[in-house]
Amino acid sequence: MAASPPLLRMEQIDKRFPGVHALKQVSFDLYAGEVHVLLGENGAGKSTLMKILSGSLPRDGGRIFIRSEEIKHLNPERSQALGIGMVYQEFSLVPSLSAAENIFLGHLPRNPLGMIDWAETHRRARKSLASLGVNFDPHTEVRQLSVAEQQLTEIARILAKEPQILLLDEPTSALSDTERETLFDIIRRLQARGVGIIYISHRLQEVQQVGQRVTVLRDGELIETLPVEKADTDTLINMMVGRRLTEQYPKSEVKIGDAVLRVEHLSSEDALHDLSFEVHRGEILGIFGLMGAGQTELAEVLFGLRPRSAGHIFIEGREAHIRRPAEAIRYGMGFLARDRRASLVPAQPIPPNITLADVSQVSPFRLLSLRDEVRTAGDFVRDLSIRPPILNRPVMYLSGGNQQKVCLARWLFSGAKILIVDEPTRGIDVGAKAEVFGLIDRLAQRGVAIIMISSEMPEVLAMADRTLVMHEGRFTAEYQRGEATQELLLKNASMS
Ligand SMILES: Nc1ncnc2c1ncn2[C@@H]1O[C@H](COP(=O)(O)OP(=O)(O)OP(=O)(O)O)[C@@H](O)[C@H]1O
Ligand SMILES: [Mg+2]
Repeated sequence: MAASPPLLRMEQIDKRFPGVHALKQVSFDLYAGEVHVLLGENGAGKSTLMKILSGSLPRDGGRIFIRSEEIKHLNPERSQALGIGMVYQEFSLVPSLSAAENIFLGHLPRNPLGMIDWAETHRRARKSLASLGVNFDPHTEVRQLSVAEQQLTEIARILAKEPQILLLDEPTSALSDTERETLFDIIRRLQARGVGIIYISHRLQEVQQVGQRVTVLRDGELIETLPVEKADTDTLINMMVGRRLTEQYPKSEVKIGDAVLRVEHLSSEDALHDLSFEVHRGEILGIFGLMGAGQTELAEVLFGLRPRSAGHIFIEGREAHIRRPAEAIRYGMGFLARDRRASLVPAQPIPPNITLADVSQVSPFRLLSLRDEVRTAGDFVRDLSIRPPILNRPVMYLSGGNQQKVCLARWLFSGAKILIVDEPTRGIDVGAKAEVFGLIDRLAQRGVAIIMISSEMPEVLAMADRTLVMHEGRFTAEYQRGEATQELLLKNASMS
């Protein structure tokens, strides 16, 4: 590898945002045919480094060389012309256009008369989606696609441009195991063709699966670049957080009380079939299933985001009629959605994002003064170590993990009795994960009944007092804490 010069070399890249030194003299290189993994906690600067390379952010200092040629000025067009393609962490698709239009946006296939060739557009879109293992109709509007389908559309869109340098910013956080494997196959095929790939992920096991080298950033600083053979999980965690993590899953013994939520024979049009269960005060009920088993639909029905076709919901013994989220909130429910972008107001700073919600509808007389709002938010920011702790900056500038903490803070603030969390650690780093679990544990200690939906087995095994396994909209097994194993969970989640 050392024989030929690198495909890409970034030297001493520096970048500041108001109040944040996001990159401090970071150097990074990439060889043709290599997968170079970029790791770091939320806010470490990974996306910023990639955005500089894709031309969507200017750098304050440092030099960039592509195939040994120095590139002084980068903007998105230039970057693309140089063969750089980036799959953004927060997608850049146009929701109101079809998947096919998105994939070929800006270079739609045309017929000899110069008119857009729709048949060809759809044929090619279908083909590129199929190569990623998905078969939905490319006419579908992007806003109607699931998060995983959007992610794959985004990847198809970038691959259609045949990049020589491919930047993947957390491409697998929304994908199922099968979809992930398909993506890895594609990565290997691209590698064989000499494409260089920079791969950002919070899943440490992926480092060994796809990478050749790994670089760790912490607080904008380069910690080290290593071949993956030298990078076992413990070493990586150490480098990322700068300390040993004492407790990844802080779960305490909590006395479990009366049932707060009881669900009887709940069904919805297509996704849920005759579900009955209870959740108790102080209990963490894990719901495990593979992606698409109906867990998210269950959460949405409970929270009034999706209609039920049959069944009853009882809260503290009384039947609850929930048709809208505002009603669910009034009954004391909170919901941390899988897709946090749906629940944040991006252009608003942290305080209203915490106190807003339909919280005002819970108690119309509890009007918050602006000062109270800022004070409350300040407490949460400290408690949850939201970084950077700058209250007046729009939340869209927070890194993914820190946005997740803001969402969680909202439900802490609303004083929910029942909290549903759907994949609470999607896209967040090991340190933040431990913090989020610590919070969930603290809520349980305070008597909140928690429904924790997760497709991460270690999470469920470590945190849940009881676990229900879901498959095709039905419960297939129930385990008390300590009874379940990874094998049992998987077997019952994938009964065929
Ligand atoms: N456009 C922006 N304006 C102001 N600050 C920003 C902007 N983009 C990023 N930041 C800040 O720069 C730092 C690095 O953010 P970045 O998004 O690169 O982190 P990251 O490593 O990608 O984190 P994550 O794993 O959560 O995605 C953070 O403190 C973030 O709040
Ligand atoms: Mg990022």
